[in-house]
This record gives sequence, C-alpha cells and structure tokens, in this order.
Amino acid sequence: MSAIDVNQLGKRFSAGARAVIEDLSFQVSPDETLCLLGPSGCGKTTLLRLLMGLEQPTSGSIRIAPELAQHMSYVFQEPRLVPWRTCLENVLLPLQLLGRKNPAANTRAHDLLHQLGLDERLHHFPGELSGGMQMRVALARALVTEPRIVLLDEPFAALDERTRFRMQDLLLELKSRLQLQYVFVTHSIAEAVYLGDRILLLDRTGSARDWRAIDFQERDQLLKLTPAFNAVVQVYSQLFSDMERAEALHVPRATEVRA
Ligand SMILES: Nc1ncnc2c1ncn2[C@@H]1O[C@H](COP(=O)(O)OP(=O)(O)O)[C@@H](O)[C@H]1O
Ligand SMILES: [Mg+2]
Repeated sequence: MSAIDVNQLGKRFSAGARAVIEDLSFQVSPDETLCLLGPSGCGKTTLLRLLMGLEQPTSGSIRIAPELAQHMSYVFQEPRLVPWRTCLENVLLPLQLLGRKNPAANTRAHDLLHQLGLDERLHHFPGELSGGMQMRVALARALVTEPRIVLLDEPFAALDERTRFRMQDLLLELKSRLQLQYVFVTHSIAEAVYLGDRILLLDRTGSARDWRAIDFQERDQLLKLTPAFNAVVQVYSQLFSDMERAEALHVPRATEVRA
C-alpha cells in the first residue's frame, strides 16, 4: 500500500480563479522520500499544505497511510518561532502542547539542538539568532515529536552553503537511522536530486511535468561531484528550459491537445 496516494487533485483558491493545482496524481511508496521541484509560484507550497491538511482540495483526493498520518510534522518556509521563548523552549513547545514533556523528550531536544550545531544558543531568544540558526531551531522543533514523516517547505533556502550541505546530510542520516520519510520542497535541482528518492517536477499550472525515481545507493556530498549525479542534474536543467520555452511560446500541453 502507498504511503501517499494523490488522485486527480485540484485546487482553486476561489470559484472562477485559475487552478493552482490541476489534475495531479502520484503515489509515494513506504520509505520513499519525495522532492517537489518547480519554478516559483507553481504551487509547491500549496501542494505541501494540501498534504498536511492545512488546505482542502477543490477536487480529487489525498490519502496518507494512517500510521504516517498520525505522526506528521511540517516545517514552514519561515521559522515561525515564538519570540519570547528561548531556542530550547521553542523546541520543547510541541511536546508541552501534546502533554509529552518528560526527561527523555528533554534529552531528545538537547540532542537535536546539538546535532544542529546550536549547543551554545540553547538559552538565546530567536531575535538574537541569524535567520539560518532560527531555521535550524524550527527543524529541531519539527523533529522533537519523533514524526514518521516530515513535510519541509524550502527549509534550507536561507542558509549559507556549508550549513545547507550539513543540514542535507543530517536529513539523510535521520532518514536512514530513524526511517524518517520526508516530502521536501525546493527550487534547487541539485538539492532535489541529492535528497529525493523520487522527484515530482511541477510546471506553472501545478501539473506534473515529470516523475521519476532517483537511484543512488550512497549519498554524501562527494556524490555531487560524480558524472552520474551531474547527468541527472542535466536532465532536469533541460526539462526546466523546455518548460520555460513552452510557456514562452504558449505551446499547449499534451492534455490540452487531447481536450
Ligand atoms: N491563500 C491563497 N489565496 C490565493 N492564492 C494563493 C494562496 N496561496 C497561494 N496562492 C497562489 O497560488 C499560486 C502558487 O503559490 P505557491 O503554492 O505558494 O507556489 P510556490 O510555493 O511554488 O512558489 C500562486 O499564484 C499564489 O499566488
Ligand atoms: Mg513556496
């Protein structure tokens, strides 16, 4: 059975408005990680919010396997920390709200903040942290509840390159160590190829332009230097420029031709 099953999904924000997501169908297998890739404004955030249940579909359906649906968490595009709580208090907040604040959870919060390089900032307030540090606190807050699946909306876009690479590797490590599944939104081709077992490429009409498996046995930063990795990046660069050319020329999509 699929982990995520999206069937003919459509989303309009108001009657008469253009569809942000249109006739979108895909399935994600158990343990498979998915990257959503596409140009700005194509509906990536909207799709992620639909998966989380923060938006309702206008048509079609989304089914998330119950064992995942009960243990989901979400990382917004902005950190959204509580300004009057320290780093540590922000990370502990979901546990407090769920009534699960106990010594083990407290240790987990410390461990996560340690792995995210925030040991020295535990008692600092968000206003005293850089944007990148705030994002790492948001990531720790999403992971502290031990989710089975986490949905992340361009979480590393504001980080400097070295930190961004460290965070990518942390996510891969959590995936293999904790069997953490994720859906990761990005507009970076290399990031999608590095982090996704599958990539869903969306075009500006929120429809699937491409859907394929990315099959690398070992993933570490050195992979990015290999011809195999760069060949896949090249495929997506070509798909992106084909898409832009088609939009510029208003070439109808295959589905529109059929209609
Ligand atoms: N709450 C909303 N109400 C109306 N339009 C929205 C809303 N959220 C997003 N949109 C529109 O949907 C489109 C896709 O937005 P979004 O999902 O944020 O794209 P992306 O994340 O790929 O940049 C944009 O045209 C955006 O203006
Ligand atoms: Mg977005």
